[in-house]
Amino acid sequence: MKILVIHGPNLNLLGTREPEIYGTLSLDQINSSLKQLAVDLGCEISSIQSNSEGALVDAIQSARGVYQGILINPAAYTHTSVAIRDALAAVDLPTVEVHLSNIHKREEFRHHSFVAPVAVGQISGFGLNSYLLGLRALVDFVSDMNKS
Ligand code: DQA
Repeated sequence: MKILVIHGPNLNLLGTREPEIYGTLSLDQINSSLKQLAVDLGCEISSIQSNSEGALVDAIQSARGVYQGILINPAAYTHTSVAIRDALAAVDLPTVEVHLSNIHKREEFRHHSFVAPVAVGQISGFGLNSYLLGLRALVDFVSDMNKS
């Protein structure tokens, strides 16, 4: 099973970006923890990060036929991007949305997600664990789908 991990805008700055909200781990550290977990779960992952909405849409479109699921932290585009939501709906791959912070506990504009309605589910507020739990949930979901 191959899973594409997508990190949205400003997540390249993790480690130094508002550490009181997002923690002190860098994106590389998050990606290496995901890689370790992927080995345990017996899946392969590739990750990309982009600050550009178009590049994220392109990555989602290219996932079709190559990956069996998408783990995505759309970051600020969660709250604004119809294009990312439409791309996810178009490729119709099981998607899990993750956030380091609890978006529902923060400013009101972060409470709405354009991605949530096209995702299998959302995990928010557990820092690195949001990604790790999200990967576990996604791999389970895809395995179950393949059984039926
Ligand atoms: C985020 C939450 C978003 O509201 C914010 O714009 C981000 C990161 C998170 O992981 O907590 O950039 O997706």
